[in-house]
Formats: sequence, C-alpha cells, structure tokens
Amino acid sequence: MKELVQEIQVTLLEAMIDGSKVGAIVTDPSQEDNPIIYTNKTFIEMTVYTQEEVIGRNCRFLQGPAIAKKDIKKMKNAIACEEKVMLILQNYRKDSSSFWNRLAIEPVRIEGRLYFIGTQKDITLERSQQKTIMENEYEIEKLMLPILSVQENVATVALVGTMNFQRFETLKVKICEYIQEHRIEHAIIDITGLSWNEKSPLYWFRQIYDALRVMGSKLYTTGISPAADQQFANDLDRESHLITFSTIEKALDFITQKKLAKTNQLTEDWAVPKEKAQILNNYSRQAVLLAAMEH
Ligand SMILES: Cc1cc2nc3c(=O)[nH]c(=O)nc-3n(C[C@H](O)[C@H](O)[C@H](O)COP(=O)(O)O)c2cc1C
Repeated sequence: MKELVQEIQVTLLEAMIDGSKVGAIVTDPSQEDNPIIYTNKTFIEMTVYTQEEVIGRNCRFLQGPAIAKKDIKKMKNAIACEEKVMLILQNYRKDSSSFWNRLAIEPVRIEGRLYFIGTQKDITLERSQQKTIMENEYEIEKLMLPILSVQENVATVALVGTMNFQRFETLKVKICEYIQEHRIEHAIIDITGLSWNEKSPLYWFRQIYDALRVMGSKLYTTGISPAADQQFANDLDRESHLITFSTIEKALDFITQKKLAKTNQLTEDWAVPKEKAQILNNYSRQAVLLAAMEH
C-alpha cells in the first residue's frame, strides 16, 4: 500500500513537472562530462530535440558561436564550486532558431550523491516586448520634448501636456545636450500648451536658464500670460534677466534684432582698427619722410 502511494506521488510529481511552463533537466556529475539524465516535456518542446537525442549529452549542445565566454566561465565555476547560478543566455533549438534562455542551475545532494537541476525559461517574447516598450517610451519622450532648430543658432521647444518634476528633469538634460551638440545660442521654451502639477514651478526655469548661461546661451520663455509673467518676475531673482514674450514669433523678432545689432557692432569694431591703421600708416610714412629729410 505504502509503495503504491509512493508510485502515485512520483507520477503526480512528474505530471506537475511536465505541465510546468519551465524546462527542467537533471544532470549527473559522477558520469563523464556531466550528462543529462532526465528532462521534462517542456524542455523537449522548447529545444525541439527528442528525449533520445538529449539524454546522455552535456547541455552545451544548446550553445552557439554567439555565447559569451564570461557566461560559460560563470557556469563552469558555479558547477565546480557546487553553487547555484542564474543567467540569461542565447541558446539554439535543433532547427537552428535561437531563443533567450533564463537559466538556473542548482546543485542537490540526494543520499550523499550530487546532481544538478537546471531550469530553463524561454524569455524571447518577454525580451522583444520589453525592447518594444523601451523604444516606444523613447519615442513618446521625444514627442514630449520636440526640440526644433528654427534659425541658425536658435532652438525652440513647445511644451504640451502636464509638467511634473521627472519630466522637467528630462527636459533639462535634453535641452542642455541639444544646445551643446548644435551650438545653440538662443533657446526658446514655449509653455502655451502646458499645465503644472506644482503650485509654483516657475523657478524650475531658472535652473535651465543658469545651465544655459554657463554654456554661453540665452533662454527665453514664451506663451505666458501677463499674470504669470508677473509671477515669473517675482519668483525669479531679478538679476537673472530671464526674458519672456507672449509668443514665439515675438521672441524670434527680438533674437533677429539682437543678431543684427551684434553683426553691426562687429562691423564697427572691425572698422575702427581699419581707420586707426590708416592713420598710423600715414604717420609712419610721414615719420619715414622726416627721417629722410633729417639725413
Ligand atoms: C543542470 C545544468 C543545466 C544546464 N543548462 C544549460 C542550458 O540550458 N543552456 C546552456 O547553454 N548551458 C547549460 N548548462 C551549462 C553547460 O552544460 C556547461 O556546464 C557549460 O557550458 C560550462 O561548461 P563547458 O565549458 O565545459 O562547456 C547547464 C549545466 C547544468 C549542470
């Protein structure tokens, strides 16, 4: 009776292991090259090999040329030290297709004999979904922060939606990177379509303003109501001179005027030394004449 119960128990356990979504194998290190002595059905389905093809072989037949040497070393060391190890590696099925295997190897001792249990989970779909989610998140982030170069040295960012601290941090980093990479001198942040979660987040712009100033660029904020503009002036250190406009167009006009004035200034600066050079030239010619007359 007791034997029958044990038999039923073993059958039930086998059914459980076979029904599991995870591949499971047992290897025997007392045999040459630590071969597989047991596999569940999921392992067979996952790898497309038959039981006969895998029993008696070391599990490395699942590996391909792309396997990282450090992963092999990690498994080898853990097996030698009889330690548990977990890793994700690329393996190959019998039909040469690859899959991502989340593998766990664990030593077990039964009545003094050592065995290793390996559990394998095919996480290929999980990984590709994760990759897609990450790519989508990046796209969404890009959409949330559309930085455009509208003129030479001028960039605009039209912010829409709700601003929170995390988004603001991303905005700060992205703007600084963009300004540095594209050598932008004037940056306009338009907040017409923006709402705030915080009570008074306007001081946040001060951080961007300061960061850009260090990089030799200027920040302008557009799309703010006269009331918000007043709050801006109150909230911000008056010395910061953060310039605000009602629209992007007005800010662009101002920047164009500024650029023109700078060009004129440069021309004047250049013209003065030219005149000076002419006068000096005249003086030196007179000096040469005088020196010749003195002789
Ligand atoms: C129980 C067990 C399960 C294993 N399962 C896998 C596996 O699914 N995929 C794999 O690439 N290697 C697996 N290995 C590792 C290899 O069998 C082998 O130990 C590893 O490649 C390092 O040894 P080597 O340098 O002699 O190849 C498993 C090892 C053990 C002991």
